[in-house]
Amino acid sequence: MERTPIGALAGTAHSQVTIAGFVAAVRVLKRVIFVVVQDRTGRVQATIDRSPNEPIHDVERVALSLTAGSAVCIRGTVSENPAVKAGGVELLVSSIEVAGAAEPGLPVDEHSAPNLQLDWRYLGLRRPENLLVFEVQTTLERAMREYWAQHAFLELHSPKLMHSASESGADTFATPYFELGTAYLAQSPQFYKQMAMAAGFERVFEIGPVFRAEPSLTPRHAAEFTSVDVELSWIDSHDDVMRMEEAGLRPVIRAVRREHGPAIEPAVGVELIEPAMPFPRLTMHEAHAFLRHEGHTIADATKPGDLDSAGERLLARWALETHESEFYFLTDYPASLRPFYHMRYENDSSVTKSFDLLWKGVEITTGAQREHRYAHLARQAEEAGLGDSVSYYLDFFRYGCPPHGGFGLGLARLVMLMLGLPSIREATFLHRGPTRLTP
Ligand code: 4AD
Ligand code: MG
Repeated sequence: MERTPIGALAGTAHSQVTIAGFVAAVRVLKRVIFVVVQDRTGRVQATIDRSPNEPIHDVERVALSLTAGSAVCIRGTVSENPAVKAGGVELLVSSIEVAGAAEPGLPVDEHSAPNLQLDWRYLGLRRPENLLVFEVQTTLERAMREYWAQHAFLELHSPKLMHSASESGADTFATPYFELGTAYLAQSPQFYKQMAMAAGFERVFEIGPVFRAEPSLTPRHAAEFTSVDVELSWIDSHDDVMRMEEAGLRPVIRAVRREHGPAIEPAVGVELIEPAMPFPRLTMHEAHAFLRHEGHTIADATKPGDLDSAGERLLARWALETHESEFYFLTDYPASLRPFYHMRYENDSSVTKSFDLLWKGVEITTGAQREHRYAHLARQAEEAGLGDSVSYYLDFFRYGCPPHGGFGLGLARLVMLMLGLPSIREATFLHRGPTRLTP
């Protein structure tokens, strides 16, 4: 269909065009009907003249029948009108075609309760500030891919049906699987990105769905989310992985700032700051000492030895005040808080070569150097009570595997924090949580 984007109408006065979009509002006056039409690029007022003394004409009849939300194609002449907002032009209508009529009375608007908004997600997504979320996400993913292309990363597509749990046994979805019994939905591409290291791929990334059967209803948790995963070989320690991650985040934030900065601030009131490098780093030991010194007692940590969210926010304030950084790395987690495959220090096997990256006090990434030595890894799996169920994974390390490490980053958390959204639900096309499986 030949159509002109509404955002391109400014400066095209006198031309005949067809626009296509949704009816945002209809205003019926005595001598004129105004129909506000919106597409992805903007809004315009379409104007239909009428005369109270003459019989209703065809275009007028269609205009009078329009309901908010209907999908329409409107043909007309562009006319300059400094009095109207949105580019100072309006469309003098010659024909209207209703391509998809909306039932009268939309079930939600921007003031509806969040849950009802999710029920009618596609209607909320029509609003420009919600569209912006996905424009930003698209730019962000493109910038990531550019960075990886420049640094010789291969793109991976690993299976999501697995023989065993890929992170922790507790949070897996299980499904019947042919003669083989049970399959588990991947919680992470972890095992397979490591297999790619054993296969000599050296550097890989994957952006794909992962599944967690966590009964969590927090603003940061979903049962299915998009994970951005990176793995690279021939590292000296997890520090190489952290450097790769911070170096990659900067051009991503820069690209979003460049392409959407002017739209972001008025829409969501957030200023996007290009981070300074390197991000501050703090071992878990140092973090606990700092919090003790601040008089903070850890109240709601999910596991012993972990930080709580109030502690993470205190550290965020520390990073901002002393390093002018919205980001910080927490490193060297105790082995008790980490999965079995994280490498441990030679001189202290209770500490792992691992890290989390936090932005504005919220975890966006977990990463580590992995244990690539078969005997060590097999022992750590055994200690974690895994043994047989992961023997196919342990096999990846039997015939020579380079030292390697990587990280996983939650895409929706990144977008949520970037745009200051209240939860990852607003940063996800369709949320999946313990109480939501539709639409
Ligand atoms: O911290 P997680 O569980 O780490 C892994 O998956 C490891 N395999 C990563 C690695 O390479 N070592 O998940 C990684 C990130 C988190 O930091 C968080 O941003 C996000 O994924 N995430 C979630 N996002 C939404 N809903 C959930 N339930 C999430 N769980 C983790
Ligand atoms: Mg984590």
